[in-house]
Amino acid sequence: MKKYYLTTAIDYANGAPHIGHAYEKIQTDVLARHFRQRYDDVYFLTGTDEHGIKIQKTAAAQGMTPKELCDLNAGKFRECWDDLDISYNQFIRTTDEQHEAIVQKIFKKLQDNGDIYKHSYTGLYCAGCESFLNPRDLTEDGLCPDHQKKPEEVKEENYFFKLSKYKDRIIEHIKNNPEFIQPEFRANEVLNQLEHIEDISVSRSKESVSWGIPVPGDDSQIIYVWIDALSNYITALGYDSENPAEKFNKYWPADVQVIGKDILKFHAIYWPAFLMALDLPLPKTIFAHGWITIDQTKMSKSIGNVIAPKDVMDSFELSHPDAFRYFMMVTAPAGRDGNYSDLDFKERVNADLANNIGNLLNRTLNMQVKYFAGEIKPEFITSADDDIAKEAVKTVEAVKARFDKFEVAEAAQEIVNFSNVVNKYVNDTAPWSLAKEEKMSECAKVLYNVLESMRFIAALLAPYTPNISQDIYEQLNRTEKASDVRLDDLKWGEIPAGVLTEKSKIKPVFLRLDSEIAGAAKKG
Ligand code: MSP
Repeated sequence: MKKYYLTTAIDYANGAPHIGHAYEKIQTDVLARHFRQRYDDVYFLTGTDEHGIKIQKTAAAQGMTPKELCDLNAGKFRECWDDLDISYNQFIRTTDEQHEAIVQKIFKKLQDNGDIYKHSYTGLYCAGCESFLNPRDLTEDGLCPDHQKKPEEVKEENYFFKLSKYKDRIIEHIKNNPEFIQPEFRANEVLNQLEHIEDISVSRSKESVSWGIPVPGDDSQIIYVWIDALSNYITALGYDSENPAEKFNKYWPADVQVIGKDILKFHAIYWPAFLMALDLPLPKTIFAHGWITIDQTKMSKSIGNVIAPKDVMDSFELSHPDAFRYFMMVTAPAGRDGNYSDLDFKERVNADLANNIGNLLNRTLNMQVKYFAGEIKPEFITSADDDIAKEAVKTVEAVKARFDKFEVAEAAQEIVNFSNVVNKYVNDTAPWSLAKEEKMSECAKVLYNVLESMRFIAALLAPYTPNISQDIYEQLNRTEKASDVRLDDLKWGEIPAGVLTEKSKIKPVFLRLDSEIAGAAKKG
C-alpha cells in the first residue's frame, strides 16, 4: 500500500474565506485527486486556526465570544470548500478537544526534554503575523512589511524554545534534501533567515492573550499560537508522544505540506525544529505557493477588493466550480504569484474548456453520429502505435512528472498542449472531407483517435475539473468514474466496438461564458 499524506495551512477563523484561501485549498485538492489516481491511500487534511490575539480581538470587536466567532467562520470555510468540491478527508479545528489535549502533551514533552526555559523579554508583536518581529525586518516607518501595521511592544516573562539549538541540523537537512523546500528557489530565502535565527517565545501571559491553550501546569501562560497551529498536522492523526494512534503511524511523515510563501519561515524553520525536538521525522516537502492578487492589487479589507469564491460562482452563474478551479490553477506557474480578473477568467476558460476541449468532443461526437449512426466497428479501433496514441501516452507521463514536482499549472498546460495537437490533427485530416470522399474507414479511424484522446484528456483533467471530466466520460459512454481512473491502467484502445452514442445524448460540456450570459454583466 502506497500512502500519500497532504496538508494545507489552516486558515485563521477571524473572517470568511476569500479566493486567496481558496487558491491553496484547490491546489492541494488537485494534488490529492491526482495522487488518488496513482496511490492506494491518500489522506488530505485541512482546517481552521482558531486561537490567538487576532481572533480574540476580532471577536471582541464584533461583540461575540471567540468560540462563537470561530464556529461561525469555521462553518463558512467548510461550506466554501464544499462549494468548490474540495475532497478533504479531515477538517481539523484547533479548538477541537483532542487537539488541545495533545498540544499540551507536546509542550510538556518539549519542557521535559529541556528545550523550554523561562525568560523575561521585550519584543515587537504583530497580531497579523501572530509573531514577534525583528526590528531589522520592519519597514522604514517601523511597520510590519506584510500587514503595514505598527507592532505592539510587549514586555513579559515567557517560556522560550531553544530554536537556535536546531539551527545547524535544519541547515544540513535543507542542504541534503533538495526536495524539502519546494519550489527550490525558496530554499535560499530560508537559509538566509536561518543565519539570524534566535530562540523564540512560545507562550504569552494570560493578561495579554487569554484565548488559547494554557501551558500545562502554569495557567498564567498561554501556549504560542504557532506551536498550537503547526501541531495540527500531527494531532489530527492522533499523535500522542506516549501512544500514537494508528492513523499517525500510517500517514506521518507528510508527503507534501502546501502553504503560502508568507508563512514559509514557520514551516521550514520552526516546524522542523519542533519535530526534531519531538524526535519525529520531517515532512518530505514543504511547498510554498505564491499569492493571488485581484486586478494586480493585493486583496485587502481596507481597499474593499476582497473576492469570495462564491462571488465568482454567482456572478458567472456557474452550476459547478470547475471553471473557477481550473482558472485558479493555471493563473500562476508553480510557486509564483497569480492574478484574478473577471476578464482573464472568462477568456481563459472559454479558450481552454469551451473552445479547445469542449468543442473538440462535441464536433467529434456529432460526426460519429452523422457518419456512423454513433457506431464504432471493430476494424475502426486504432492501435497504440498510432502517432496520436503515442502522444496520449506521452502526455500521461509528462503530467505525472509535473505533479511529482507539484507543478499544477504546468501539468494542466501539458494536457492543453495535447488537446491542441488533437485539434490540429482533426483540422489536418479533415474527417468531414474524408466522409465526403467516402473514405469511411479512414474517417472512422480519425474519429476513434479523437474520442480515445478525449478519454485520456478527461481522466488527466479530472483533478481540476471533476464535473466536466465526468460529463465527458458519460458522453463517451463510460461506466467508470473519470476521477477513479488509475493512470497506470489508462491504456489506448479501450473504447469498445458497438454503439457509442446517439444525437440526443450529445451536449456541450462547458458553455462559453459570454458577457450576455454572465450574471455579472447582466447585473452591472
Ligand atoms: N493560520 C495561519 C496558518 C497556520 S498553518 C499551521 C495563516 N492563516 S491565514 O488565514 O492567514 O492564511 C492561510 C493560508 O492562506 C496561508 O497559506 C496563506 O499564505 C494563504 N493565503 C492567504 N491569502 C492569500 C492570497 N491572497 N493568495 C494566496 N494565498 C493566500 O497564515
